[in-house]
Amino acid sequence: MTAFDDDYDIRTFPAALAPESTDDEPRADAETAGWVRAEALGFHEAAPDENAVGRTARRLAADGRTETGVYPREPRDGSLDAEGQPVATFESFVKSLNVGGGRLLDAHLISGVTVQPTHRRRGLLRRLMTDDLARAKGAGLAVAALTASEGSIYRRFGFGVGVRERTIEVDPRRASGLLGEPEGSTELVSRDALVELAPAVFARYHARTPGSIDRHEGAWNRLLGRERPDGTPDPAVRGAVHRDSSGVVDGYVAYRLEGADGARALVVLDLVSATDDAYLGLWQLLLSVDLVATVQYAGAQQSDPLGHALVDGRAVRVTHDEDHVWFRVLDTVAALQARPWAADGVVTIAVGDSLGHAAGTFRVTSEGGSATVKRAAVRRADIELDVATLGSLWLGGVDPVTLAAAGLVRERRKGAVQTVRAMIAADRPLHSITHF
Ligand SMILES: CC(C)(COP(=O)(O)OP(=O)(O)OC[C@H]1O[C@@H](n2cnc3c(N)ncnc32)[C@H](O)[C@@H]1OP(=O)(O)O)[C@@H](O)C(=O)NCCC(=O)NCCS
Repeated sequence: MTAFDDDYDIRTFPAALAPESTDDEPRADAETAGWVRAEALGFHEAAPDENAVGRTARRLAADGRTETGVYPREPRDGSLDAEGQPVATFESFVKSLNVGGGRLLDAHLISGVTVQPTHRRRGLLRRLMTDDLARAKGAGLAVAALTASEGSIYRRFGFGVGVRERTIEVDPRRASGLLGEPEGSTELVSRDALVELAPAVFARYHARTPGSIDRHEGAWNRLLGRERPDGTPDPAVRGAVHRDSSGVVDGYVAYRLEGADGARALVVLDLVSATDDAYLGLWQLLLSVDLVATVQYAGAQQSDPLGHALVDGRAVRVTHDEDHVWFRVLDTVAALQARPWAADGVVTIAVGDSLGHAAGTFRVTSEGGSATVKRAAVRRADIELDVATLGSLWLGGVDPVTLAAAGLVRERRKGAVQTVRAMIAADRPLHSITHF
């Protein structure tokens, strides 16, 4: 058997446009074009034409994404590899993550992971992932994050589910309105108006919501109907905003109506609120749209307030509940010190990490909302866990009592899990409405 590096050349490069690229006809440079085509193949999308490749490259470049491709040293004649397409793709970029208490931390986001069926299960993903995590750690990033196509791939690399998401369906008739009257007002707006005001509203949502990841170019295109895969805007997207009592826009919703009379669904594409009144006010509007049998929202948080706010909470059905953002701690001291701490206390934590980045025993001393974290030389730590479980606990999105019950947190000092539970409690429920 030949060695990996004899068979493959791994190249890492910034996503970039070609010199001849224009605003109207964006063109990817050759390496980025091959990467974009390979990624589309890996995610079973239709082969993109030159314009679509150019548009994708433009948004990847705008995000400052770093692409990695794996290229066979001896491409087979007539194959896609011979046309410059890598047999595996991987990308990473940096966006801010709200770690609670309004604090933002740069997170290393991983995306675009594909391996051609002809090269799978030969360790390509493992190699790309371990190299990339080492690079991120070297660059000083404390945490990596990703969203997964399958639940069983990433734990082995130290990722744990930190934020979950739900799809809810609401029957507007059964809901019978809200129990209370939210402050402020709502109005319908054009898609263009939505595109204008959305970033500022999202920035306020992002600043107050633990677990939130800042938006990237592609997210805006899709959620606001700004650019469909064929490059045109989606005329079916409708929009509405919520204004607070002084007239400032503090929330918006983008939605589309699908299906025929009698079974029409109002599908929420993006619902962003900087205040609780905006969230409820926008739902009040959505549930008032006539000739709609159901309102569907795929971005609900685990502890969504809507069911409590309606006259008949049973109008809300949870139709899907899944892991959303996975966190991978790269630097335990920096990650734990970055977040706010809810209660004063001292706890020692032993972290296992087969890749080494986060491993060690640490003493966390929290006081006045912040923690000091130091390596500790104790014979036995108060709790023991692996780095993936640390990722789940990190921002308080998963209860340590639940993780202990799952056999993932070992309590070595009686009461330590309860102490950790109080210390890591999040100021608001974790929520993320950015897919990447
Ligand atoms: C998922 C995918 C990237 C795996 O790539 P790969 O190169 O075959 O993976 P590797 O050979 O490096 O395997 C690495 C490890 O992950 C495991 N693994 C890989 N894919 C897995 C899967 N789908 N489910 C469970 N385990 C998986 C392997 O068994 C191996 O385990 P080990 O190292 O502990 O022995 C590839 O199958 C793929 O492109 N799938 C379609 C696109 C996709 O789902 N991408 C993920 C987007 S989030």
